[in-house]
Amino acid sequence: MMRSRLWLGVGLVSLGSMAVSCSKESPAPAPAAAPAPTAAAPAPTPPPEPARPQMSHAKLVAFFRPAASQAAAAAALAEAAKTDSPERIALGRMLFFENRLSKNHDISCNSCHDLASFGVDGKATSLGHKGQKGSRNSPTVFHAAGHVAQFWDGRAATLEEQAAGPMMNPMEMAMPDEKRLLATLNSIPEYVRAFKAAYPKDKKPVSVTNAARSIASFERGLITTSRFDKFLAGDEQALSEQERRGLDLFAASGCTTCHNGPSVGGTSFQKLGLIEEYPTEDKGRFGVTKNEEDMHKFRVPTLRNVEKTGPWFHDGSVTELPEAVRLMAKHQLGMSFTEPEVEDIVAFLKSLTGELPGADVLTPPTLPPSTRTTPKPDPT
Ligand code: HEC
Ligand code: HEC
Repeated sequence: MMRSRLWLGVGLVSLGSMAVSCSKESPAPAPAAAPAPTAAAPAPTPPPEPARPQMSHAKLVAFFRPAASQAAAAAALAEAAKTDSPERIALGRMLFFENRLSKNHDISCNSCHDLASFGVDGKATSLGHKGQKGSRNSPTVFHAAGHVAQFWDGRAATLEEQAAGPMMNPMEMAMPDEKRLLATLNSIPEYVRAFKAAYPKDKKPVSVTNAARSIASFERGLITTSRFDKFLAGDEQALSEQERRGLDLFAASGCTTCHNGPSVGGTSFQKLGLIEEYPTEDKGRFGVTKNEEDMHKFRVPTLRNVEKTGPWFHDGSVTELPEAVRLMAKHQLGMSFTEPEVEDIVAFLKSLTGELPGADVLTPPTLPPSTRTTPKPDPT
């Protein structure tokens, strides 16, 4: 690793202590006395690399606690979660897989956020209505509930606010208006019953707002746990030596200034190309706030399950995880890692791969049949 002042300082300290311990043992033989090397002599073993300093478990764990600055957001999330009844979650799951919420009955949330594939579609940018290509990569819906805001540019504050968007987005599910959406749901008696069960006190349970709420209730349950969680909970053996080295480096080199908190990201907006300009047309958060300071800022993505959520970056332009690490080091920190260092960090990132939930979440539920009055698919 180059150009990290912090790291250089630590390196010098450990080199210094090695020199001390060497001089305590046998002094090096005078050069003149050394026998001329012969072909048979074994190659001199290189001095061992100074062991990288290890951050204490307590210090590492602190980076991934909810920050005090996020307390309000965490409280709001906990408050919302209280209303996540089994009826709402079940309805939200049906709607997440519901193709008839798209104009041509061919796209659901799951098309671009395939739950069995860790909530992504594996494409650089997703295909929406009539195969139209968007300009951004679809982020995973796993762990999204914990983010400060939704979308790469944070233009939706909450999951509820986010969920109504794609159905009416002409590039995505392309429903022409709320009317058609409601006509679809109201034409299917099982949906009318499910909305009533989920929102028993509402005069008009079938609404776009309640559909979005239910989807959000379902999404709040989309979390995975990994070996890293065991490590955070105190089991230091849960990570291999290499993964631990990678985590140490991840923290010591400053990745944690942006990828922190329980989701290892999602806590702030940061400029892509903070130290060294990153070539992108996407203005990011600036598009939302028109504030010059927000130019090329993106909501930092979660790194949970990152091994499985490629291709990476807002435009899906990065196809190899080690390359994502190299680019981050260069553009966000002004550093370059050695290849073994990149491998260590990648090993750590893979320890963030969690276990997917069971079939009760992942498998598409049986959806109720259309009726005579259900609006027909419209390919236009
Ligand atoms: C055609 C593909 C497509 C469909 C269909 C789609 N999404 Fe998305 N989704 C995306 C893309 C692309 C983004 C990122 C867009 C951006 O940031 O500007 C996104 C962003 C999100 C996010 C924000 C995640 C984060 O970390 O910021 C959530 C949550 C989400 N979608 C949920 C849904 C739900 C719920 C549905 C169904 C109602 C849905 N999506 C339908 C492609 C899709
Ligand atoms: C100054 C803030 C910052 C720092 C420091 C930082 N990142 Fe990032 N990271 C981001 C942002 C912002 C993105 C989103 C990039 C984009 O939208 O194209 C990102 C994206 C990523 C991604 C791709 C995730 C995805 O789903 O597309 C990986 C992997 C990653 N970072 C790893 C690292 C590593 C490893 C380090 C340390 C070497 C690091 N980051 C340091 C802000 C940062």
